[in-house]
Amino acid sequence: MATELKSSKYRCPHCAAADFAVTTTQWRCTGCDHTFGCAAGIPRLFVEDRLGSQDRRLRDTFYDGLFGRLYQVTMPAIVMPVRPLAISWPYWIAYGVTLVLILGLAAGLITTLVAGVFVTAALLFAALGLILWLLSRQSWLLHLMWVAIPAWLSLARKPWVPSESFTAVHERVLAPLRDAGRRLQILDVSTGSCNSLYRHGWMSLDADYTAIDLSETMLKQGSDLMSAAGVPVDLVLGDAMELPFQDNSFDVVLSYGAVNGLTDPARAIAEMARVARPGGTLLFLDEQMYDAATPMERAYFMKVLSSHNVIHHCPVETFPATLTDVRVSQVYQFYYICTARKAG
Ligand SMILES: C[S@@+](CC[C@H](N)C(=O)[O-])C[C@H]1O[C@@H](n2cnc3c(N)ncnc32)[C@H](O)[C@@H]1O
Ligand SMILES: [Zn+2]
Repeated sequence: MATELKSSKYRCPHCAAADFAVTTTQWRCTGCDHTFGCAAGIPRLFVEDRLGSQDRRLRDTFYDGLFGRLYQVTMPAIVMPVRPLAISWPYWIAYGVTLVLILGLAAGLITTLVAGVFVTAALLFAALGLILWLLSRQSWLLHLMWVAIPAWLSLARKPWVPSESFTAVHERVLAPLRDAGRRLQILDVSTGSCNSLYRHGWMSLDADYTAIDLSETMLKQGSDLMSAAGVPVDLVLGDAMELPFQDNSFDVVLSYGAVNGLTDPARAIAEMARVARPGGTLLFLDEQMYDAATPMERAYFMKVLSSHNVIHHCPVETFPATLTDVRVSQVYQFYYICTARKAG
């Protein structure tokens, strides 16, 4: 097993040193001699005891669980009411079947109780209880059952146009980077399946890519996607609130759909700013409700879309003073993109 020396952008979570002796199964910090294990060749550059409770809980119950294993299927279910029917119709069919089953069992239960057929009633009660228990294991799923149709109807009757679209924000940031005249360093924080890193224009740049996530289940999907696409990427298992990278290492720091759900979003943004180079760009997207949301849309947002989050808006009030040119664009009814530049 050959040992290679890796330095520069990485930072030991224990002693902040930059040099590691690396094999496919472990990274040893040459500063403090601490050894970090690897999962399928990806180093675990974090300290388990220092993880926030929310991060550990989300990882263990959500992203490393069934939700994460089936992420490509489960994620579109959460956004079913806000997506065009042309894309989300399979979810509506699954939803319809489940709803009919629940209502059918409930109706059967009442009828058999009234008729005094108690054995059948007990069976129906058990079946109904089992379905509701399974749904309640992910409470957002249970809430989706009652709020999906009213939220969809509410959204469908008033078309909404953002003042700056998702594509326009990306183009505003990407255009100058295409003319940078040098190879860029790009970091995607909480990259998950690497889907957003791969799809939103970043592959059009002359760049080296680094991507970090806390969940092995999620990062394995990211590794598969990037390998299948033939894009080299340095993958790291680590904590967004204690990024294992040196200060001023990246031209662009991205994060899609993660900040609001972290134990300490302000600290994560401070970390993203720390590892960005002076003059570097931050871009992150997450949940935030548009001003004109109706009560039913608010219920959908709070009970389903943003239910696992710690905060529910872009936390500009907590940004470090190093971030300038801050712009928050409401790109969809329930999502913002924030762009900022690190001073210098
Ligand atoms: C909703 S997913 C978004 C994934 C990806 N960025 C995308 O756009 O599809 C949120 C991701 O944040 C990751 N995550 C949660 N807590 C984290 C932490 N403390 N540090 C790094 N990643 C974390 C999860 O493992 C998950 O992959
Ligand atoms: Zn060290």
